[in-house]
Amino acid sequence: MVQYPPRELLALLPSPFVLLERATARWGRGRRIWCKRDDLTGSLLTGNKVRKLEFIAAEARARKCTVLVTAGALQSNHCRATAAVAAQLGLKCELILRGEEQALEGNYLLSRLLDADITYVSRSTTGDEMTQHLANAVQRWAAKGEKALSLPIGGSDEIGIWGYIAAVEELASDMARHAIRQAAIVHATGSGGTQAGLNAGVLMHKLPADVISYAVCDDAAYFNEKAQQDWQALRAATPDLPVEPIKTITNDHFIGPGYGRADQAVFDTLAQLARLEGITLDPVYTGKAFHGMVTDLEHSSFQSDAADIIFVHTGGVFGIFPHADALQTSLQRVQAVNTPH
Ligand SMILES: Cc1ncc(COP(=O)(O)O)c(C=O)c1O
Repeated sequence: MVQYPPRELLALLPSPFVLLERATARWGRGRRIWCKRDDLTGSLLTGNKVRKLEFIAAEARARKCTVLVTAGALQSNHCRATAAVAAQLGLKCELILRGEEQALEGNYLLSRLLDADITYVSRSTTGDEMTQHLANAVQRWAAKGEKALSLPIGGSDEIGIWGYIAAVEELASDMARHAIRQAAIVHATGSGGTQAGLNAGVLMHKLPADVISYAVCDDAAYFNEKAQQDWQALRAATPDLPVEPIKTITNDHFIGPGYGRADQAVFDTLAQLARLEGITLDPVYTGKAFHGMVTDLEHSSFQSDAADIIFVHTGGVFGIFPHADALQTSLQRVQAVNTPH
């Protein structure tokens, strides 16, 4: 029995687990494609972030914090979800965002609507500089008599990691219900916490599955190392965990032009899946991972032999709204392919 730390119940769980029949016919090449609908874990709290935030919010309560402070890109899903949790729990929220004040759109619109205090920093701010900005913010709040909890980018640390360790328990019952004996779990990795949690969960719950993590920014070596560090930090904080390292498989071939930017092919896959299954991906995370998965299946380069593939839809739907132009092009392309001549 895994002993979980305190948890604030914020997400709508368990999330649905569905067979994508038409996507299986279109892209499966003999394998079944399932979807773990973590995009349905809430509305403003949608996606993978809320699973991590359940444990982080409980920590904030235990430490009697009055403010949540975190950092990310202007259109960060994690920042929007943190702002939503803060509002839901009656806490203040400060977001340190890379970029300048701009027209309200997507996640940025929602973060403002949720009344987060926003500090803008240069787009070229490094990860280490962001960590320093977070520490400065905690001190600023302390000077005003408030106690702030600082959340790392993406909520990926030894507390947030519990979110996906718990999710693996859900996946175990999803697999048992559908008599799935061996699976490949596919997801997008951005700050590494979901990857660390899934792999830790597979090890701790002895799930017969490989986790294939499609990188959306840094390379495979970075993510394999980051996930291992998160696991070590968790082991240091928690007695009786397995001593072996977690297994990680990172695919960094589908990052495309860089974080937050995607090739037209990603938008095309996104448009096709929407038509086939009524499921929307985003071009920053889930679109890249799903596109990578179906391309690897097509080229026989998918990194697992499992007959059942579980795509973890980690949310991010608000991320499509700032990309209307690229989507317009894909709609025309998909329409042209589907229209008989
Ligand atoms: C929609 C979505 N999917 C996947 C990820 C990647 O998760 P992680 O940051 O835990 O690697 C993120 C956040 O970065 C996200 O917002």
